[in-house]
Amino acid sequence: MINTETKLIALLGYPLEHSFSTQMHNENFKKLGMNYYYLPIEVKSEGLADVLTGIKRMNFVGLNITKPDKVVVMDLLDEIDTLASKIGSVNTVKIINGKLIGYNTDGEGFVRSLELDKKIDCSKNTFFILGAGGACRAIAMTLASRNAEKIYIANRTFASAEILSKEINEKVNDCCEPLELNSEKAIQCLNNSAILINTTSLGMLPDIDSCAIDLNLLRKELIVADIVYNPVKTKLLSAAEEKGCIIHTGIGMFVNQGAKAFEIWTGIDAPVNEMKAIVEKIIVERKQVIR
Ligand code: ATR
Repeated sequence: MINTETKLIALLGYPLEHSFSTQMHNENFKKLGMNYYYLPIEVKSEGLADVLTGIKRMNFVGLNITKPDKVVVMDLLDEIDTLASKIGSVNTVKIINGKLIGYNTDGEGFVRSLELDKKIDCSKNTFFILGAGGACRAIAMTLASRNAEKIYIANRTFASAEILSKEINEKVNDCCEPLELNSEKAIQCLNNSAILINTTSLGMLPDIDSCAIDLNLLRKELIVADIVYNPVKTKLLSAAEEKGCIIHTGIGMFVNQGAKAFEIWTGIDAPVNEMKAIVEKIIVERKQVIR
């Protein structure tokens, strides 16, 4: 029951109607018997500062920030965790005595899901990332901070891959190399990689027939991961599965970014498998396309 003791957590962003986080966190808190409530609040960028001022005065203990304000929110926080500062965006905030402390759990969520589900030791592997946008930044920075052996960043716009690689090499660990998507060199580097990760939105509903890479380049020894979880099995993952590759769906990142946020807010270990089961149930309930 919600009462004055209830610890509130807000999801801030716009629009929020398709969010899975609200149901995932509230069902999880309920199962654990914790007096927390996760509340979606649609707010446009121009209203963010006002909403945060109000939130600090209420019984909120944390926040999730989603698109489009993961970067602009940084100017409104009191402290920012080191990795989140390097990534340059915040998706999770802990509120302690009216102070807002920012974290980024997106990269950690992805990397943790690979480590837990696929038993991957990042320090012994070469990664090939498609895309060089915000999601790639979070994932590549986190992989680099885990001492990844090598990270190729292949992007349609080479300059963005180049800028990001340089930044990671300077700030975190000298392991990134930029590539032009689908170039001869990129094809060679893919052949030397163990794990392919799509961080572009290609393949996401309604654009389900698109993919950033020539699917003929897949080979069965690759582990293929996608951050898109709607549909769960993207065109890339279906093709990879047909080739005999191990595949890693976007549910892994989604659940683990939420699990890491839960730990930041509550200070206790997240029941990751139970949270994953809740998300799988939501996907069926909402009749998401599972291919
Ligand atoms: P996000 O924050 O979700 O990562 P983003 O920052 O807009 O989103 O990044 C989107 C990424 O997908 C970019 O790397 C983009 O490539 P460009 O830098 O060339 O724009 C990539 N992307 C988007 N549409 C693409 C397409 N049709 N083909 C190849 N890459 C595409």
